[in-house]
Amino acid sequence: MKEQLEQLLAAAVATLKEQGTLPADLSPRIQLDRPRDKSHGDFATNLALMLAKPAGMNPRALAEALLAALPENDLIADANLAGPGFINFVVSQDQLIQQLQQAYQDPRVGVQPAAQAKRIVIDYSSPNLAKEMHVGHLRSAIIGDAVARTEEFLGHTVVRQNHVGDWGTQFGMLLAHMEELEGAELAMELSNLETFYKAAKQRFDESPEFADRARELVVALQSGDEKCRGLWQQFIDVSLSHCQEVYDRLGVQLTRADVMAESAYNDDLANVVEDLREQGLLVEDQGAQCVFLEEFKNKEGESLPVIVQKSGGGYLYATTDLAAVRYRQNVLKGDHLMYFVDQRQGLHFQQIFTLAKKAGFAREDLEMDHYGFGTVMGKDGRPYKSRDGGVTKLADLLDQAEARALALLQEKNSELSTAEQAQVAKVVGISSVKYADLSKNRTSDYIFDWDTMLSFEGNTAPYLLYAYTRVMSVFAKAGVEPTGLSGEFMLQDEREQALANTLVRFNEVVHSVANKAMPHFLCGYLFDLAGAFSSFYEACPILQAEDPAVKQSRLKLAALTAKTLEQGLELLGIETLDRM
Ligand code: ARG
Repeated sequence: MKEQLEQLLAAAVATLKEQGTLPADLSPRIQLDRPRDKSHGDFATNLALMLAKPAGMNPRALAEALLAALPENDLIADANLAGPGFINFVVSQDQLIQQLQQAYQDPRVGVQPAAQAKRIVIDYSSPNLAKEMHVGHLRSAIIGDAVARTEEFLGHTVVRQNHVGDWGTQFGMLLAHMEELEGAELAMELSNLETFYKAAKQRFDESPEFADRARELVVALQSGDEKCRGLWQQFIDVSLSHCQEVYDRLGVQLTRADVMAESAYNDDLANVVEDLREQGLLVEDQGAQCVFLEEFKNKEGESLPVIVQKSGGGYLYATTDLAAVRYRQNVLKGDHLMYFVDQRQGLHFQQIFTLAKKAGFAREDLEMDHYGFGTVMGKDGRPYKSRDGGVTKLADLLDQAEARALALLQEKNSELSTAEQAQVAKVVGISSVKYADLSKNRTSDYIFDWDTMLSFEGNTAPYLLYAYTRVMSVFAKAGVEPTGLSGEFMLQDEREQALANTLVRFNEVVHSVANKAMPHFLCGYLFDLAGAFSSFYEACPILQAEDPAVKQSRLKLAALTAKTLEQGLELLGIETLDRM
């Protein structure tokens, strides 16, 4: 609806240009807002205010001219001028009803595919394999996955890339520790990577011989020594299977096939450096090979270097990322490369993107974006830690989420059997953790708080899951299926109107999630939708409605609400429950 209205306004602008009222070289961005106060209509635009100056006209007069130039249509029921030159639109009831009907019948729930389908390469999760995944890995996995699902839903081809860190110097110390352990003992120790890492680190810090051996082993590993490779592979396999367990529990759609590890770029790193050299971009600085980009300066105004090779010959994180850009463009054929990585790596990615273009590793029109996110904080306002002060393993955190959800359900003395309760607790626990993350603005830090995330009130997973079961209970009670209902949508009560207006917004919300990589838009929307349903449900009897036509319409409103909630939650990677 918003799009249609935008098109109408664009047509009005074009007409005014032809008439010479507006300068011909103008191509304004048309902004349409949904006023909070419904007495201001369904949509409002400040277009006339924006264009008044370039047009050399009074904004109200320009608004009048725009209104006069709007093409004939049956979308707009009423349009009027407000204040200094705003235009408010009321959308026709017929249109609203048509859109509801269309969404009701549509397996895509009224969401239009993207105008142009692209290949999008999405880098997400990408943990370092030396340690087990911890709380800090939550956001990339969860947000990246929600955006990947949304892009796919809009018709894009998504290529997932799990750029795991498996190649750093830490592996020398891990290999040295592996060497010291025997078969059965080794397997046992490896079952807890967190303690394994700590033990190796301790040996490294205490014993100079061990530390030397660790350094030797990195060199051996990187030069392809077979025995080293074998040990390393064993470690990587264990670590990746820990990751996979976490993904499966979280419902994150990454598999082993999406793993494209840092080590996979190893053979290309010398080429990257050579290519930079050939293009005259390399500068040697204290033995290291660097590229200085004038776009990035320190406080003293000096260009910052991107180091691509250390003085000892070793390559760096940046070198691998340059190779990865080239691979994602040339082999994976990406049109858009998206990176879901901690905000603190912002400078790194800006440098990589700039350098990749400068060096010709990336086409001029290749889109590359880093979508940073804030930190998960504890209630003390510092990065979230476990009770003993260590980092919390993600697997333990998820256990805790499930246990807390179970306790909550038991307290609520629900009608579920014990087995059902356990099953429901899993969904509630995991989705609470996911939703708490997704519902916050990606770029802010957020406080990890069990009580708020597991609350049945507010913008939380339990609230939405419960809202969904409530809608579905209408159908259980009526003994009808939500699909294939006959009858017309009728919007007489203002609560029906409000619910309908919320329902038809789904399309634009999904598109804005994809465009901005901001899943919290969708969370906010679903919360609004559940609220609009709740007001409707309390004020408008459904099964008890006297008029059968009204009953049918209300059933359809409920059905479309359920469908929209379900589809929205699915895009967020959250499964719904029929009962809880
Ligand atoms: N492994 C890195 C880390 O844990 C994140 C990798 C992100 N992706 C990338 N292409 N650099 O910090």
